Amino acid sequence: MKLFSSVHDVNDINALAKEALELKRNPYSYQHLGKNKTIALIFLNPSLRTRMSTQKAAMNLGMNVMVLNMDKEGWALELQDGAVMNGATVEHIREAAAVMGEYADIIGVRSFPGLKDRELDYSEDIFNKFVKYCGVPVVSLESATRHPLQSLADLVTIEELKTKARPNVVLTWAPHVKALPQAVPNSFAEWMCKADVDFTIAQPEGYELSNGFTKGAHITHNQEEALKDADFIYVKNWSAYEPYGKVTVGHEDWMLTNEKLKITDNAKVMHCLPVRRNVELSDEILDGSNSVVVHEAGNRVWAAQAVLKRMLESL
Ligand code: CP
Repeated sequence: MKLFSSVHDVNDINALAKEALELKRNPYSYQHLGKNKTIALIFLNPSLRTRMSTQKAAMNLGMNVMVLNMDKEGWALELQDGAVMNGATVEHIREAAAVMGEYADIIGVRSFPGLKDRELDYSEDIFNKFVKYCGVPVVSLESATRHPLQSLADLVTIEELKTKARPNVVLTWAPHVKALPQAVPNSFAEWMCKADVDFTIAQPEGYELSNGFTKGAHITHNQEEALKDADFIYVKNWSAYEPYGKVTVGHEDWMLTNEKLKITDNAKVMHCLPVRRNVELSDEILDGSNSVVVHEAGNRVWAAQAVLKRMLESL
């Protein structure tokens, strides 16, 4: 595997999830693969889980790890070709990415969308320029429109905890105080549409995701209808795709509570984290026995390790 940027880079998602669970049982059995190999993790935005889980995964595989908080510690990056760099930007991505490729065997990149210009965000300009100029395999640590390591960890969690062959999985919109990217729900949707699950998306009117990510999903504006018989509920806020990046006031009643959980099939509750307590998810849910959010975050290690293992095998 030379690129991990979406579900489309994986031939068989069930085999990859199975491999992640095998690595969970035997974390150190492939240490020889990473000997004398280096991964550089480049963050243009804050991160707790992605940074620590990918670092841990790489160390489990015997790799050396370098982390650069590009937004705080790196030179200000210029992305435009032909730019006259007489302003705030100091280094062009053509040189920056190419130099990183001299130091690392694999590069991980996290970038976020600006949520102002949909065409620009959905073109994945920053991520694709890293891929183009670094010259080594690249793993997405979340990009403007997708978070595939998160989605793989989510699939691993569902496979691990399911009690029926084909569970009902519901992605439900949740309230928030600011505009958030569509990367996590986009990505979760496109992975679930390929997984062995029955998949429903529930959101208020105006929060439809791009249909490029949701083909095969049942989509409803009725949260109660969606939650009925759910085995897994994936809670997440996102801003509107159309009009792009907008949030509307109201919809506070979309927050998941224990009362709503009663209409499910004793569903397990997932969230990618970080979560705003009592805005997106209630204390009673997060502290209750149905929440698997910490377990899910733990599985980020095994998802990342399965992907890095395949990349190391292809070097
Ligand atoms: N879920 C997730 O990606 O968390 P971080 O932003 O902390 O990495």
